[in-house]
Amino acid sequence: MKAVRVGLLGFGVVGGGTVAVLTRNAHEIARRAGRGIEIVKILTRDPGKRRAQAVPEGLITTDAAMILDDPTIEVVVETMGGIEPARSYILAAIAKGKHVVTANKALIATAGNEIFAAARARGVVVAFEAAVAGGIPIIKAIREGLAGNRIRGVAGIINGTCNYILTEMREHGTEFATALAQAQELGYAEADPHFDVDGIDAAHKLTILAAIAFGIPLAFAQVHIEGIRDLESADIAYAAELGYRVKHIGIARRVSDGIELRVHPVLIPHKRLIANVDGVMNAILVSGDAVGSTLFYGPGAGAEPTGSAVVADIIDVVRTLTTDPELRVPHLAFQPDALSDGPI
Ligand code: HSE
Repeated sequence: MKAVRVGLLGFGVVGGGTVAVLTRNAHEIARRAGRGIEIVKILTRDPGKRRAQAVPEGLITTDAAMILDDPTIEVVVETMGGIEPARSYILAAIAKGKHVVTANKALIATAGNEIFAAARARGVVVAFEAAVAGGIPIIKAIREGLAGNRIRGVAGIINGTCNYILTEMREHGTEFATALAQAQELGYAEADPHFDVDGIDAAHKLTILAAIAFGIPLAFAQVHIEGIRDLESADIAYAAELGYRVKHIGIARRVSDGIELRVHPVLIPHKRLIANVDGVMNAILVSGDAVGSTLFYGPGAGAEPTGSAVVADIIDVVRTLTTDPELRVPHLAFQPDALSDGPI
């Protein structure tokens, strides 16, 4: 069967990570998806830029129409970030009947209601696992693995940059500005890091988590938002003396008159698991009436962790294109060829 043709909008940290994962693991990915997956065009603003991930020159374009108007491209992957032109491109892709995979939390949190309505009307999928908590499959965990539960609450560390900065300040006494510059250098921070340090990125992600967990519309405007900009190394040191760690946390929970949504720094006793989640790692506690408490931990930002989530969504979308029931339900491939890759 012919490979699925994919167009990539944006070739920064996440786009590069997505191409790297798709290329390196092409064989396993094709087996799991039931078809090969081929990136046939990549939109970038800066074609001459040196990149970690080299691709043939013919793949690169600066013209979005080369992807959006190509009828052979079935899936559009958006990793450019920001609201415009990402929103217009995604709506154009949906209008053309293309499925969309996006890592864009700001867009999903603030324009997701419009985007999902357009996708429903056109009968296409918009997948967004990579929008929350980088490599942790938290959207699928809540929507699928915990689908039998009434979710009581979701809480956790959902901005890798803030957690990296707070960790550096505590462990090495690094100044806030230096730690932020390091997070930018490592590819963790948003293009405008004000979104990270002022809590807006965490609020975008909390908005998405709450919509999935509680079945409510995306309600970014309802989130109480505080960042970490005003914290000083001395605050973190005093907290440590008292046996606490300062963590930037997002909380969505049922309260008597609805759902409470807030992001802000929290003092957490140092023995708690979540107090020991350091660096770029994220951790999300999901509490359900049947399962009790669950904790999901992993890298919350970075090229390949986020690429891992994007690729999982591409595979999911490709599975929806098939009529083979074996592939529509993710299955364990115990066929002989699945075992022929070498020792497990
Ligand atoms: N800037 C984000 C973070 C990237 O630091 O968590 C991943 O969404």
